[in-house]
Amino acid sequence: MSWQAIDRRVVDEHHRGPGLSAAAREKIQSFFPRYPTRRAVMLPALHIAQDELGYVSLRAMEEIANLLGVTPAQVMDVVTFYTHFWTHPRGRKTIVLCRSLTCELMGQKALQAALEARLGVREHETTPDGEWSLMTEECLAACDHAPCMQINEKMHKCVRVEDLDRILADPDNDKLAMPRSDLYDAPR
Ligand code: FES
Repeated sequence: MSWQAIDRRVVDEHHRGPGLSAAAREKIQSFFPRYPTRRAVMLPALHIAQDELGYVSLRAMEEIANLLGVTPAQVMDVVTFYTHFWTHPRGRKTIVLCRSLTCELMGQKALQAALEARLGVREHETTPDGEWSLMTEECLAACDHAPCMQINEKMHKCVRVEDLDRILADPDNDKLAMPRSDLYDAPR
């Protein structure tokens, strides 16, 4: 069976997953003065949750709903709209392959097939050792270097199938060369 219905009124503690740290809650609250309403902080809050937990658990959705003054269902609406947000745990490193036109024309399909064969997973799945998750997203804003993919936050450009072994073997393949904006950085 590929799907399972969950009655969220009786969901148990295990399925609710981990909650947010006090630091993450404070970081979400620090965004309130920047927006006209609390509910407008939804996307920063989800990024902060996913940065900390690796995904957005049911418990985190409830906590965000309480902080923003909306219902948990409204948080889940947003979480499930964007492929970027995960509702289940991811591997230590997440490969995000661009699936938009320029990258597709430049070989994205072959890259995806090679990654799936090498890792033994399909899209939105995680390897049994918990090391790798694989997914695709729309344009990663590096079309002039197509085809491209990210590992965690690091962008790899002009990737060829023959480059994959080297990239996956590199222990720093998810390390950014320059610091990104601290806008969504996880609380330290
Ligand atoms: S189409 Fe792939 S980065 Fe834009």
